[in-house]
Amino acid sequence: MTKYYAEPFKIKMVEPIKILTKEERIEKIKNANYNVFSLDSDDVYIDLLTDSGTGAMSANQWAGIMVGDEAYSGSRSYKNLMISAKDIFGYEYFQPVHQGRAAEKVVMPIFLKEGKVAISNMHFDTTRAHVELAGARAIDCVIKEALDTVNYHPFKGNMDNERLEKLIQEYGAENVGMIIITVTNNSAGGQPVSMENIKQTSEIAKKYDIPVCIDAARYAENAYFIKMREEGFADKSIKDIAKEMFSYADVFTMSAKKDAIINMGGLIGVKNDKDLYETVKARTIPYEGFVSYGGLSGRDIEAMAIGLQEGTDFDYLQYRIGQMEYLAGKLDEAGIAYQSPVGGHAVFLDAKHLLPHIPYYEFPAQALAIELYIEAGIRSCDIGSYMMGNDPDTGEQIESEFEFTRLAVPRRVYTQSHLDVIVEALKAIKERRDSLKGYRITWEPKVLRHFTSKLEPIK
Ligand code: F0G
Repeated sequence: MTKYYAEPFKIKMVEPIKILTKEERIEKIKNANYNVFSLDSDDVYIDLLTDSGTGAMSANQWAGIMVGDEAYSGSRSYKNLMISAKDIFGYEYFQPVHQGRAAEKVVMPIFLKEGKVAISNMHFDTTRAHVELAGARAIDCVIKEALDTVNYHPFKGNMDNERLEKLIQEYGAENVGMIIITVTNNSAGGQPVSMENIKQTSEIAKKYDIPVCIDAARYAENAYFIKMREEGFADKSIKDIAKEMFSYADVFTMSAKKDAIINMGGLIGVKNDKDLYETVKARTIPYEGFVSYGGLSGRDIEAMAIGLQEGTDFDYLQYRIGQMEYLAGKLDEAGIAYQSPVGGHAVFLDAKHLLPHIPYYEFPAQALAIELYIEAGIRSCDIGSYMMGNDPDTGEQIESEFEFTRLAVPRRVYTQSHLDVIVEALKAIKERRDSLKGYRITWEPKVLRHFTSKLEPIK
């Protein structure tokens, strides 16, 4: 029996969701050209497209919304955010921005320009984009265990520190603009990074005088995994673990739409470099707005200050990660493969394993996402060859290392019964998997095609 940690909250407000018939869903996905991003959210029953900005705020956060201070400068809500952030991260300076990629837009060009590289355990798409927009190149350096979806490793998100040092020597330390540690490692399946690994990366960076930036979107979930899996941390609080994690970096960029459980917001942290903070401020003002609001309303900043604290609550995190573990346990019973052990914010289904008869160029992970919608109105997304796109030089379809269908679970939104619906749908699909067909693209844009391209089933 898979344990389910019951919700450490009760529900005060509900949002009705519609259940269409299967016939209606077949029609809707066809009209959406078999692209899940083109579906109306009203036609989705369980929305697992992302865990970003889709969480449910608490009564306290909503109360914060009402008392948010909308002053242009020096607002009370800004001060509350500074107090809350300092308590968790232990840094001297913080700068709110409107979301994670805004933080990247402000920070990356400070360290990167043409001729430089950024090395990361894995760059998230927008992080990679901002590295490249700054003129630099992004290199992924995750441990090889991350590529093995079956065998257990407690920290599949880790940096390959041996390779990191080789890369630094190969490119020359002066050409490595920054090292980015993404916690948890979203692209590898929401996989955690161990404290020991973060510390080692930081030591290597120090040796070569390279700044370390943490991409902190899911830092609290990462701290939870460290507490549960790494020796010496069982008795430490989530906040103490977070503080230690951040002590090994110089700066962080954060999407607050994840672990701070707000619908919009981001944050930059600077450990103690006053000059760097001055540069961050100077870059924020033209892009995001004045220092004390950074592209957000005062009420959003108030909700972030409260959400940062709630996101580090152990009972909440146990329930939260427990939802992924519950889903994973049920999938084990059903013999359905996923990136294992399951990560912090999502289950990454291994579509290559479930649909071995669909080749990468017919997009098995996209086929599974479409089938999940048809079967039960569940919206997920492809993280595989369909998302990867074509080689810019040859125009040929790239074969992705993984064919994942990501089930990203919003925070505090769905119940155990919703999770059971997901498992039942997957079991039903497994029964008739041989009948599933691949897809072909009938129209695609030049970049980031998965958001807007059109597809059709292969007859
Ligand atoms: N870094 C990581 C690791 C992320 O997962 C994301 C967003 C960002 C940065 C950018 O933050 O969206 O606030 O601008 N990830 C979302 C996802 C979109 O669905 O995984 P943002």
